[in-house]
Amino acid sequence: MDTGYEDTARRPALPWWQTGVLYECYLRSFQDSNGDGVGDLAGLRRRLPYLAWLGVDALWLPPFYPSPQADFGYDITDWTAVDPRFGTLEAFDALVADAHRLGLRIVLDIVPNHTSDQHPWFQASRSSRTHPQRNWYLWCDAKPDGSPPNNWLSAFGGSAWAWDAPTQQYYYHAFLPQQPDLNWRHPAMAQAFFAAMRFWLDRGVDGFRVDVMWHLLKDAQYRDNPPNPHYDPRTMPSNDMQLALYNTDHPDVHHLVARMRALLNAYGEDCLLIGEMYFGDDRLMRYYGAHGAGAQMPHNQMLILTPWDPQAIGAYIRRYEAMLPAFAWPNWVLGNHDKPRIATRVGRPAQARLAMMLLLTLRGTPTLYYGDELGLPNVPIPPAQIQDPFAQRDPGRGQGRDPQRTPMLWDHTPQAGFTTAARPWLPLHADWPQRTMEAQRQEPTSMLHLTRRLLHLRRADPALQAGAWTPIATQGPLLAYTREQGERRCLIVLNFAPEPQELVLPAALRRRPRRCLLSTWMDRAPVAEGGPRLTVRSDEGVLLRLR
Ligand code: NOJ
Repeated sequence: MDTGYEDTARRPALPWWQTGVLYECYLRSFQDSNGDGVGDLAGLRRRLPYLAWLGVDALWLPPFYPSPQADFGYDITDWTAVDPRFGTLEAFDALVADAHRLGLRIVLDIVPNHTSDQHPWFQASRSSRTHPQRNWYLWCDAKPDGSPPNNWLSAFGGSAWAWDAPTQQYYYHAFLPQQPDLNWRHPAMAQAFFAAMRFWLDRGVDGFRVDVMWHLLKDAQYRDNPPNPHYDPRTMPSNDMQLALYNTDHPDVHHLVARMRALLNAYGEDCLLIGEMYFGDDRLMRYYGAHGAGAQMPHNQMLILTPWDPQAIGAYIRRYEAMLPAFAWPNWVLGNHDKPRIATRVGRPAQARLAMMLLLTLRGTPTLYYGDELGLPNVPIPPAQIQDPFAQRDPGRGQGRDPQRTPMLWDHTPQAGFTTAARPWLPLHADWPQRTMEAQRQEPTSMLHLTRRLLHLRRADPALQAGAWTPIATQGPLLAYTREQGERRCLIVLNFAPEPQELVLPAALRRRPRRCLLSTWMDRAPVAEGGPRLTVRSDEGVLLRLR
C-alpha cells in the first residue's frame, strides 16, 4: 500500500486502544445465525474476517446478557450469562478466541446504573422493606399527598419514580420503570457488581464500555432539579425540561470510576475503560480522573452533537484539544445506536464520506458505528413496526432509535444475507441491494473502500495515529488541519460545500512538496502537487502527505 513514506516500520509505542479504531457492533442487527431474525454471537463470529479485512482493531458489543429486552438488552436479569437469543457462554468464548486470533479486541457494554425489574436482586429488594437487599436500589417514601419524592424525570419520559404498592414506597428509574436504578452507595451491591466485571475479565475481554457512567450516583438528599431555561419542546426530549443537576454527574462518581479503573488495572493497564458521556465541556474531562485514575476514554460524542458545519466543528476540536489534561488521550465518536446515523445527519452522501475522513484523521481513538462504513442512512420505520420504548413513551421522539438500528446489509440474497427468517426484527432500507457490503466490495470507489483505505493509512502512519493536530485557519466551508509526528506530516482539507473551494496554504506549508494520497471521491491517483493554493472539488476531502 502506498502510504507516502519510504519507511513505515517505525511505530509509536502506544497501547492498542490509542493506536486502534473501535467498531460498535450492534449485535441484534449484525448477523443472525439461527434464523430468528435477530443477530447473535455465532453470526458475529462468522463475520469477524470481514472486520479484520476492514481494518478495525476492537469491537464494542452492546449487552447480550439475559434480559426481557424492554430496552433491547439494557435491562439485564443476569450479569454473568448470555441470553439464549444471542447464544451461549461457549459461543461467547469461541467468539473471543477467534477475535483474538484475528487481532481484534473485545470490549463489553456493562450497565451498572440499573438492572431489569426481573433481576433477582430487584425481586429480593422489592419483596419487603426489611429484606437485606432492599437498599441495593433507591427507595423513597411518597410526599404527604402521595406524589413522588421529587421532580426528577426519566430519560424516557414522565416521572423517574414508580410506585410499588405492596411495600408502599417509590423506586427510582432513570430510564424505564422496568430498569430500576442501583444504589452504588451500598458496599455489598458494589462488590457483587465488581465480581461480575471480573467474571468477564477472567474470560479474556479487553475492556468495558460503561453505560451512562455519569448517572451512577445521585444526590443523597434527593433535591429537586431546577427548570432548564433553554428548554425547547420542539427539539428536545421531555426530560430536558429540567437541568439534571441532582440526579446525574454527582461529584463522588469519580471515586467510583477510579475503583473500576483500579479493578481493570489488576488485569493490565491497557485494559480499556470507556464511559458513556454526553458532555462536551470540563465535565467530560473530569471522567479521566485525577492523573488518569479514571476512564481512559470518556466517550466524546461531540461530532454527533455539533451541527455539521466546518466552523462549528473546527471550533469544538480546538476547544477539546485545549481542554484535555496533559496525560489524557482524545477520542471521537461518529455514531452510535442511540443517535441518528451520520449519513442522514449530513444529508448528501458525499458528506458522509467527508465525515469518515474527519473521524479517521483526527487525533485520538475513533469509534465507528456498524454500517457507517457502507454509508447507511436511517431507515424509515412504518409506525406499526416501531419497537423502541423511547419512541413509545415520549411522543416527541418520532420513530425513536429504530431507524439507526436496522440490519447490516451483507449481500444480494434475501434479507441482504442478514437472516434466513422471512422478516428481520427491523426492516431493511428500500434500496438495500445497491448498498450491500458485497456490492460495495466490487466497486473500487465505494464508501466501503474509502473507509478501509482510511483505516489502513491510519494504521500504517504514526502521524495519523498519534501525531499532533494543528488547525489551519479557514473561512466558510473548509476545515483544514495537519497531523505531525517527527518528520512525518499530513495535511487534511475537507470541503463541506457542494461547490469547489480553494485553500491558500499558510506560508510554512507552501515550501513543502506534497502528494495527494487519498480523495473522498476515491478517483485521484496519489499525485504530487505544488504551489501556494490547493483546490478541492465539491464535497471533497483530501489527505496529503507533506514532505
Ligand atoms: C444508554 C444506552 O446506549 C441506551 O441504548 C440505553 O437505552 C440507555 N443507556 C439505558 O441503559
